[in-house]
Amino acid sequence: MRILVTGGAGFIGSNFIRYMLGEHSDYQIINLDKLTYAGDLKNCEDYANNRNYEFVKGDITNIQLVYKLAGKVDVIINFAAETHVDNSIKDPTEFLKSNVIGTQILLDAAKKYGHERYIQISTDEVYGDTENGFFTEESILKPSSPYSASKAAGDMLSLAYYRTYKTPVIISRCSNNYGPCQYPEKLVPFFIKKLLAGENVPVYGDGSNVRDWLHVIDHCRAVDLILHKGKIGEVYNVGANEEHPNIEITKKILAILDLPEDRIKFVEDRPGHDIRYAIDSTKIQNELGWEPTVGFEEGFREVVEWYKNNFI
Ligand SMILES: NC(=O)c1ccc[n+]([C@@H]2O[C@H](COP(=O)([O-])OP(=O)(O)OC[C@H]3O[C@@H](n4cnc5c(N)ncnc54)[C@H](O)[C@@H]3O)[C@@H](O)[C@H]2O)c1
Repeated sequence: MRILVTGGAGFIGSNFIRYMLGEHSDYQIINLDKLTYAGDLKNCEDYANNRNYEFVKGDITNIQLVYKLAGKVDVIINFAAETHVDNSIKDPTEFLKSNVIGTQILLDAAKKYGHERYIQISTDEVYGDTENGFFTEESILKPSSPYSASKAAGDMLSLAYYRTYKTPVIISRCSNNYGPCQYPEKLVPFFIKKLLAGENVPVYGDGSNVRDWLHVIDHCRAVDLILHKGKIGEVYNVGANEEHPNIEITKKILAILDLPEDRIKFVEDRPGHDIRYAIDSTKIQNELGWEPTVGFEEGFREVVEWYKNNFI
């Protein structure tokens, strides 16, 4: 299989390419990435010379480039996106360009070349938040931030291409990933970097906001399964059922680094901050046989240790 992975120099995309090159030694992967501040070729260093791998620097909104690359592959998997909620609150413009227009251009390319699959990597944030219960794939979308609104628009567009043109779209909506190679703007690497530099860590509000934490490798396994066994036109939630408030995650990081809790500084909450994300992943478990394999305590400790070794 020949795959165009977009955003493969970012956190999840780079882990996914590593996973796929290891699992499927005959697959060819082209990584198209704009190398925004969040993309880093260091994330791909260990497989840069793999003969089944090629990196192309470029933007998914560049129609000529996307069409040229799409003509060489059977499948597109779209990880490329602007992903930081705080940036989307300051200025949503780039989020609409990459997450909506970029998605449309990739969908058009999949349509033009009659691709076998188009996989849209989405997020649990498109459902908005809930204090109780779990969102299923049938729940309505109620995004809270310009980031999640742009991701929801990408999802809607993808499903519309399936309905209108029979483009073979599948969407995955996963929860908060943790793992190596994440840009240090997101909670885990950001806090570890600050702590190692001797600074305090800023926790939004009272830190009670709850996220479901999924190890990036379990997400990669889910995307691999969706690619091969997922049903066209369907959405799959991918969550680990590991709900933890941000304050608990912060205290866990401090404990692993052997630092005192007075390094926590509570700061004014993010506007529109979602209280709790919670998805029901029964569908992917029952239909595709996926389940998380990495235990949270052990997986989280390993990831903190990874950043400790890589930031020092
Ligand atoms: N990180 C999470 O916990 C999480 C959770 C749910 C869903 N997701 C989704 O997974 C995907 C990957 O997330 P991530 O955390 O790896 O993001 P990231 O910010 O680490 O990486 C995004 C990558 O996309 C590239 N990119 C951005 N705009 C581009 C463009 N216009 N053209 C080409 N490349 C472009 C960047 O250079 C970067 O390498 C995103 O679609 C995100 O919405 C992430």
